[in-house]
Amino acid sequence: MTAVGIDIGRSGVKIAGPRARVPIFPALACPAVAVEPGPERQRAEHDTVQVDGQAWFVGESAQIHGGATNSTYAGFEASPQYVALAEAALRRATEADGVAPKRIVVGVPSEAGHTERARVESTWRRIAPHAALRVVAQPAGALIAAASDHPRLLEETVIVADVGQYSSDLVISAQGRPMAGSFVSLPGVRFAVQHLAAALRERLVGSPTHDALERALRDGRLPHLLKVHDVHDEAKAAVAAMTALIRAGIQRLMTARQDVQVLLLAGGGAPLLDLDLPSLTAPGGRYAVANGFAMIAQDL
Ligand SMILES: Nc1ncnc2c1ncn2[C@@H]1O[C@H](COP(=O)(O)OP(=O)(O)OP(=O)(O)O)[C@@H](O)[C@H]1O
Ligand SMILES: [Mg+2]
Repeated sequence: MTAVGIDIGRSGVKIAGPRARVPIFPALACPAVAVEPGPERQRAEHDTVQVDGQAWFVGESAQIHGGATNSTYAGFEASPQYVALAEAALRRATEADGVAPKRIVVGVPSEAGHTERARVESTWRRIAPHAALRVVAQPAGALIAAASDHPRLLEETVIVADVGQYSSDLVISAQGRPMAGSFVSLPGVRFAVQHLAAALRERLVGSPTHDALERALRDGRLPHLLKVHDVHDEAKAAVAAMTALIRAGIQRLMTARQDVQVLLLAGGGAPLLDLDLPSLTAPGGRYAVANGFAMIAQDL
């Protein structure tokens, strides 16, 4: 993967080359802890990176041994967790074909300001000093990926809605260019997770994990304290609340640009929504943004 697109989201790290992809790993990182010698230690070592001289676990090892949970806070890109995930992403991309990437495109949320972008850029310059680098807003990746199937999208007025775990990023693209002032950032799937948790507070003792709640949004079944609870109705209401929020955001953008021709959906949360609006879905599922970045990276 000499050209690589890297999309570090709150739920997972997506890495794509022009033809290949690396399996998604959870966007989790925590300071390393001691693990008994044996195969488990080997797995943990594979998930260990150094940040400022300190060892960090990333991915599944952070989840299992460090009890790390998703970082649903603002300022993620400035955290040591982000640096650990970036180091791990670079290593996985290098392992994928044995050479370090020469051209790298990484993402920032669409509402990222100058400071956030500069921070992401300096992190990557530090860890990959010899690579050509570009920092791109995440929804732009989804647009480029979709345009490889539908080139007309780069000529048209398009609302891109990237529905992730932490945020749903909306932007209007006019002739392939992001329109100034059209960035809208709304909560992502975590909003539905919080809604579901609140609805179940009376019914369940204790607090189910974020992951369990997220799965329950999709299948209506919640394993909790040795029982599987049927939470179909609560899950449906939670998804409806999230859908309403995103629909309102889209409608707000449509008021600003009534010549919108296409609504383009992307992100792992998109299949949950029932927006009742005509739409296209960016190809590649959760990889759509990384795929688009990989295409941009090829031309760097
Ligand atoms: N196998 C899976 N593992 C985790 N999440 C999944 C899976 N399949 C679908 N999803 C859904 O995908 C969502 C995450 O989507 P995505 O990967 O686009 O988010 P992200 O890019 O990590 O987050 P953000 O863009 O907000 O930082 C989850 O919240 C979940 O609803
Ligand atoms: Mg994302």
